Amino acid sequence: MRSHTLAVLPGDGVGPEVTGAALTVLDAAQDRFGFGTERTEIPLGADHYLATGELLPEDTVTALGDHDAILFGAIGSPRVTPGILERGIILALRGAMRQAINLRPVRLYPGVPTPIAGLTPERCDLVIVRENTEGAYVAQGSRVHPGTPAWTAVQESVNTWYAVERAVDFAYRLARVRRGRLTLCHKTNVLVEAGKLWTAVMETVGERYPDVETDYVHVDAMCMHLPVSPERFDVVVTDNLFGDIVTDLGAVLQGGLGVAASGNLNIEGNGTSMFEPIHGSAPDIAGRGWANPAGACLSLALLLGHLGEGEAAAAVEAATAAVLAELPALAGADMGASTDELGKRIARALTSGETGSGPVPPLEGSLMGQLAQVMAGSG
Ligand code: NAI
Ligand code: MG
Repeated sequence: MRSHTLAVLPGDGVGPEVTGAALTVLDAAQDRFGFGTERTEIPLGADHYLATGELLPEDTVTALGDHDAILFGAIGSPRVTPGILERGIILALRGAMRQAINLRPVRLYPGVPTPIAGLTPERCDLVIVRENTEGAYVAQGSRVHPGTPAWTAVQESVNTWYAVERAVDFAYRLARVRRGRLTLCHKTNVLVEAGKLWTAVMETVGERYPDVETDYVHVDAMCMHLPVSPERFDVVVTDNLFGDIVTDLGAVLQGGLGVAASGNLNIEGNGTSMFEPIHGSAPDIAGRGWANPAGACLSLALLLGHLGEGEAAAAVEAATAAVLAELPALAGADMGASTDELGKRIARALTSGETGSGPVPPLEGSLMGQLAQVMAGSG
C-alpha cells in the first residue's frame, strides 16, 4: 500500500480543533483511496514555548525534513508577545524547509456567501502563486538616528533571478494544466528595477510554455479587478509583499478566514512542504467548537495533491465544498454544527454509502487534482 509520512503541527487555539477535523477527513480519504499515512504529532506553539522556551528546535527541523508533508493548524496566543511565535516558528519553518512558493487558491464554492454582490462561483476560480522567500521580506533594512526627528529607515526589496524564475516556472506549469492563462502582478512602472527582472523572467521562461497566454496587471489595479472581475484570472504570479496583500483580498471573495487554504511549497525536493488554513489561532472562539474546519480540510486537499494523491485531493475538495454549501453561517454558534461534527460530515460526504447517494463527485477543474499533475513533473 502507498504510504506517506505526515508531520502534524496542531499549534494553538483553534489550530488543534480544525486539524482534528482535517485528520478525520484524512482517515476517510485513506479508506476510500487505499493509501496510508504515518503521522507524527509535533507540539510547537505557545504552550510548548511557555513550558520549554523552545520555538523551533534544531532536532525538530531535522525531523520535519524527513517527512513527506506538514499539516499545520495555527499558532499564536495572547500569552506570548506578538511576533515571537509567528517569526520564530512559521517564518523560520518557511526558510528551513525552503518553501519557495505560497500557493493560495481563490475559489468561490457554490452556496458560500461572499461580500461581493453578484459574484458567482463560475466567475471566481483562480490561483495566486506568491514568491515566498524574498522581495521586501528578505532584507534586514537599516536605520539611522532612530527616535529623533532625523530618524531614517531604509528597507530594500531583494529579487534574485533564481527565486523569481523558480516561482514563475511553477506558475506556468500550473497554468498549463488549468485554463492556460498566466498574469504577472507587479508595479513595474514604479519599482522599475525589480519590475524589469520579473518581466524578463516571465518572457524568458515563457519561451518554454508557448501554449500559455500571459498578461500583466499592476498590483493597485489588481485590487480593483479582483473583486469586480475575478474571471479575468486563472493563475496569478507575484512577489512576496504584493502576494501577501492580494491573497487576503482573494480570501474575502471566497468567504473569508474559515474557508481559505494555503500551501507553502518546496518544489525542489530539498525540504518539506507545509499546508495550513490562512486563519490564526482565533483565541476569541477557541474551545467552543465554533471554528470552521473548511480551510483546514481544503489545506489537507492541497497536501494530498502535492503528495500525488490527485483523486483523493479532488474528492476532499468536493466533499468540503458540499458541506460548506449546507452551512447556514460560516463561523460561530450559527454554523449549525461544531468543528468536530463538520469534520465527520465532510468525511461522510467523502465516503458516503450511508445516504445511499454515493460519494460527492469531484468538482470540475479541481486545483487540488491539478496540483498532483504539476508536482509529478517537479524535482
Ligand atoms: P485569527 O485568524 O486567529 O482570527 C480573526 C477572526 O476570525 C477572529 O474573530 C476569529 O474568531 C475568526 N476566525 C479565525 N479562524 C476561524 C475559523 N476557522 N472559523 C471561524 N472563524 C474564524 O486572527 P487574529 O485574531 O488576528 O490572530 C490570533 C492569533 O493568531 C495571533 O496570535 C496571531 O499572531 C496568530 N496568527 C497565526 C497565523 C498562523 O498560524 N498562520 C496566521 C494569522 C494569525
Ligand atoms: Mg497575510
